[in-house]
Amino acid sequence: MKTRTSVFLILAAAGLAAQVLAQNSQTPQNTTPPRRPPPALHKVADNGLVRTPPMGWNSWNKFAEHVDDAAVRGMADAMASNGMKAVGYTYINIDDTWEAGRDADGNITSNQKFPDMKALADYVHGKGLKIGIYSSPGPKTCAGYEGSYGHEAQDAKTYAAWGFDYLKYDWCSAHTLYTDQEMQAVYQIMGDALLTTGRPIVFSLCQYGRDDVWKWGPDVGGNLWRTTDDINDTWKRMSTIGFSQNDLAAYASPGHWNDPDMLEIGNGGMTDDEYKTHMSLWSILAAPLLAGNDLRSMPHDILEILTNREVIAVNQDKLGKQGHRVAKSGDQEVWARELADGRYAVGLFNLANASASVTVKWSDVGIAATPTKARDLWAHHNFKLDGPEYTAVVPAHGVALLRIAK
Ligand code: GLA
Repeated sequence: MKTRTSVFLILAAAGLAAQVLAQNSQTPQNTTPPRRPPPALHKVADNGLVRTPPMGWNSWNKFAEHVDDAAVRGMADAMASNGMKAVGYTYINIDDTWEAGRDADGNITSNQKFPDMKALADYVHGKGLKIGIYSSPGPKTCAGYEGSYGHEAQDAKTYAAWGFDYLKYDWCSAHTLYTDQEMQAVYQIMGDALLTTGRPIVFSLCQYGRDDVWKWGPDVGGNLWRTTDDINDTWKRMSTIGFSQNDLAAYASPGHWNDPDMLEIGNGGMTDDEYKTHMSLWSILAAPLLAGNDLRSMPHDILEILTNREVIAVNQDKLGKQGHRVAKSGDQEVWARELADGRYAVGLFNLANASASVTVKWSDVGIAATPTKARDLWAHHNFKLDGPEYTAVVPAHGVALLRIAK
């Protein structure tokens, strides 16, 4: 968000300077293109993709504008060989700053950091992975690069021809042309364009949860939609975002996911307990698991957090039912997610700065008969339950994540 604001300030200053120059030299101005009226609404067909939340990696959180072809290949190499691919991570997503401009025919071109997008996509596919790209419905992206405005169908075709499998589409400068209430129609243009290519391309909406996107995201062909402004690598921001998702649970379903933003696990600003909370909460929320760290140089403890199969199984549960808060007492919260096999994932979260006891009552979770068996998904051990509740001592900012059999 900060990035976006400062980029806009820079763009605004650059725009002003360009205007002054243009007036002085009588050369044509590089102004905002004319507004096209948004199309009438219709329902874009479901593309059938990501029946469980997408898993992968995205360049933005760690690299921002310093992402290039070599880094992307390096991430694909790492994901394919370090165990991440084996537990379900699939998408290698290039975020903003790959764009150069347009050729004489209006085709989008990549800049010198990405000399050959088709070759890069082939490389990532050769590792058994998929690849994602980024654009904006506005004339410029959030970092001020070329957006898709007026070229939506052409850009979708280019992404398909290059071999891309995923598009993150970020509102940003579209706000200079359209109101929030027009977002649905504007996103529908790209939803249609992606379907028309005939290539399966996941459609990720990024407009920071404005205009109740969860109510219309599926209608524009969206597979996931950001629900908040940007995350950053701090306990404060991650926990603020994560624990504020309760009201959106009803809007998630297979192929259509609330997206509280990408993971910060391994970027260095939080403790391992805090990163376990991040991973556990995102799994209970059925949120996309898009790692945002440098996969090429990851300490073992971070890799273990990202590749915990039992936690990932909660995230990827086929029922696709997003979990919610079932109890809160001061800084202690209990969240639960119903799983396809009739079991429950239950997170006992301690948001306090010191360790504390957290208690779950089975009646709060909605389990009628008293459960007798539990498994701790971080400690990887089974234990017996006895009675109507269970109490765990949970470290500061930590979690006990349990799977409960009825
Ligand atoms: C916005 C998005 C981020 C990232 C940047 C890129 O801030 O929310 O996730 O894509 O733009 O400029």
